[in-house]
Formats: sequence, structure tokens, C-alpha cells
Amino acid sequence: MSRSYYIAGNWKMHKTRAEAAELAKALVSQLKDGKHRYLVAPSFTLIETVASIVKGSNIRLGAQNMASEEQGAHTGEVSVLQLKDLGVQTVILGHSERRHNYKEDDALINKKVKLALKHGLEVILCVGELLEEREAGKAEQVCETQVVKGLEGVPAAELAHIVIAYEPVWAIGTGKTATPEDADVIHAFVRKLIGKLYGADAAERITIQYGGSVKPDNAAQLMAKENIDGALVGGAALKTDTFVPIALFA
Ligand code: PGA
Repeated sequence: MSRSYYIAGNWKMHKTRAEAAELAKALVSQLKDGKHRYLVAPSFTLIETVASIVKGSNIRLGAQNMASEEQGAHTGEVSVLQLKDLGVQTVILGHSERRHNYKEDDALINKKVKLALKHGLEVILCVGELLEEREAGKAEQVCETQVVKGLEGVPAAELAHIVIAYEPVWAIGTGKTATPEDADVIHAFVRKLIGKLYGADAAERITIQYGGSVKPDNAAQLMAKENIDGALVGGAALKTDTFVPIALFA
């Protein structure tokens, strides 16, 4: 299998510049011999600070969201051009907190995905079901809709710049993790779906991260699963003590 593991830290709405700089510096030094792909996604206000620290390291620079328009009268939004200007390489789109707390729908997320790709950014597209959807047996259906609609109009040639993060909403920030077996079922389902949409090679190559209470003590079991290619880490990404062991998992 040629996929490499990809471990991303989503810092969410945490940290001041000084705190972010401290964490970024520690990560650069502690992950320098790490064998996997790494990313940190700080808040917009921290990006410039973190950019200067991770530059030239093996840690990519991400943003947690971006506007669906290139520029213009969009008070409070941050554009793809502004992110690129700071050196951002990757943008997380469709995070469940954006979908559910800020009412971003699949059409808006799809617009953002296409805009990010147009400007050469890598996209981490998050998908995942709510607890009631899982209990109603609809987890696969929900993920299918989010993948299909999120990638609508994305040509096969761009798929190499897409990473999918499966993040069951009920596992995010709750301390509840999907079992590696349950997560792998959805990862396999998403991979098969990518195969239907883009062909077998694309399915084999696409990176599918798991997110939702990934911690040092469950990371290795999750990533041992055939279809789990990395992690999108929230809470545990805020400290080296918890992020480094995940990032260096054996
Ligand atoms: P968590 O967040 O690791 O705190 O559950 C994951 C995420 O939201 O990406």
C-alpha cells in the first residue's frame, strides 16, 4: 500500500500567539524525525506566527475554514487569497462544528472545496454522522451524501489534493471514540464510494483520516486498520504530551 499516514492537529479556537509559537516550536523539534505527514491548523490570527516557525519543517500549515468567495464584501470572512498569502497549504472544510453550529450546508462546502482547489490548496473534507443518524442506521448514507455533494464537480485530476476525514460527530470532543472496527467500516465504505466516483486507483490512493477523540492510547489501534490512513486530532493536538505520541505512533 502506497498511502502514507497523515496526522493533523486542529487547534480550533485555542491559544494566543505566544502559546501557539511555543507549541509550534516544540512540534517542529519533536517531530523532525517523524516518518508520517503532519499538519497543524491554528486559528486565523495565529497563522502568520505559526507559518514562520513551521516553514522548512515537515509540518504543513493549515487553516480551519475559509470563505466561499475569492474576495469582496463579506464581513468577518477570510479568503483563500489571504490564506495563501500567509503560506497556508491546506484548508479543513466541512468540519462538523461548521456544519452543525454554523449551518454550513453541502452546497456551500462544495463551493469552498472547488475554490480551494482552484488556488492550489489541499483540502481536508470532513464528513460524519450525528448520533441519532448512527442509531437510525444511516451513518453510511449520511457520509455518502456529504462526500458526493462535497466533491460535486471536482475532476479526477484534482483528487490527489483531497483528503477525507471521517469524524463521527458523537465522537468529537466527547472522549467517545468509534471502535477501530466501526471506524474502518465507514472508511472502507468511503473508499469504495471514491472508487465508484473516480475509479479504483483513486480509491486506493486517497487518504482517509479518522477524527473524534483520538488520543495517544487509541491512535495505534485506529491506524492499524486497513482503511484508516491518519488522524485529525482536536483536543489532543493542543499539547505536545498528547500530540507527539499520536504523531509518532509506531
Ligand atoms: P477531538 O476533535 O479530537 O477533540 O475529538 C477532533 C476534531 O474535531 O477534528
